[in-house]
Amino acid sequence: MGSFEVTWEYKGVIMPKVVTKETLDAMADFQIRDDDIVVASFPKTGTNWLLEIIRKIQKAAGKTEHSVVFSPMEMTVATATQPGYITLADMPSPRLVMTHLPIQFAPPGVSKPQNKVKVLVPMRNPKDTAVSFFHFFNKMMQLAGMGVVFQWEEFAQDFINAKGSYGDFCDHVLGWWQMRDDPHFLFLKYEDMKKDLLTAVKTIVAFLEVDLDETTIKGIAEASTFNNMKTDLDNSKTAERQAIARKGIIGDWKNAFSPEQSKAFDAWYEKKLAGTGITFDFE
Ligand code: A3P
Repeated sequence: MGSFEVTWEYKGVIMPKVVTKETLDAMADFQIRDDDIVVASFPKTGTNWLLEIIRKIQKAAGKTEHSVVFSPMEMTVATATQPGYITLADMPSPRLVMTHLPIQFAPPGVSKPQNKVKVLVPMRNPKDTAVSFFHFFNKMMQLAGMGVVFQWEEFAQDFINAKGSYGDFCDHVLGWWQMRDDPHFLFLKYEDMKKDLLTAVKTIVAFLEVDLDETTIKGIAEASTFNNMKTDLDNSKTAERQAIARKGIIGDWKNAFSPEQSKAFDAWYEKKLAGTGITFDFE
């Protein structure tokens, strides 16, 4: 089995089959609300980590709890009776929205936000992202009864040849990166969060414009470490959520990459990201 069994192409970008044409066509008219908070990311870059931190911050600040669909809005997951975006459209405000769409497919309210909409974009080095995605994708396929879909060699090749789900990682990141100077956006790197979670939480608190004291912020950072979050995620109701907290480290790519694969990744991302201002830590 290979990628063609589980993916398809929409306007030049490879998408997983759980994202349908009907959904992608509907994105142009999807209504983002002024009080929506959006996490827009390439898969496996720390999306759920960020979602949990946002929820903890809002809760500590005494804000109304956000409605949230714990899968990307563009997906129609196997256990759902309708596409994620329809469920989201029916939810009360305020909403916490999650998407992995490249910017050109995202609802206009996310790609060109107005008023109070806030968009957070986590980013992670492409080698760890690829390894995390590989494990998660195969796990999801196994849960769907499809067995092991990918071998690492094929997955890694697809990842740098724009043949994997959600297309080329660098194009995806660069698409959102165009918005780096827009005040509706906050970009955060997984590696920075790992190295100094307290500073990251403070940055997010300021971006969300909530008022929290130092002790509360420290408590949120402590509750958001990998080990503390893993317990909750492992005990969650759905198999998808249980599969999220895997290793949670920087540098796990070294356990999967051959020297040749590492060289090929270096050549690919260094060329694509040269001069863009985006750099990543790999350890
Ligand atoms: P690994 O598979 O490398 O362990 P996403 O939420 O975008 O799907 O990203 C999932 C990745 O984020 C997984 O990486 C997961 O372990 C990691 N992750 C989740 N919560 C984390 C936390 N609190 N601290 C560090 N990494 C976390």
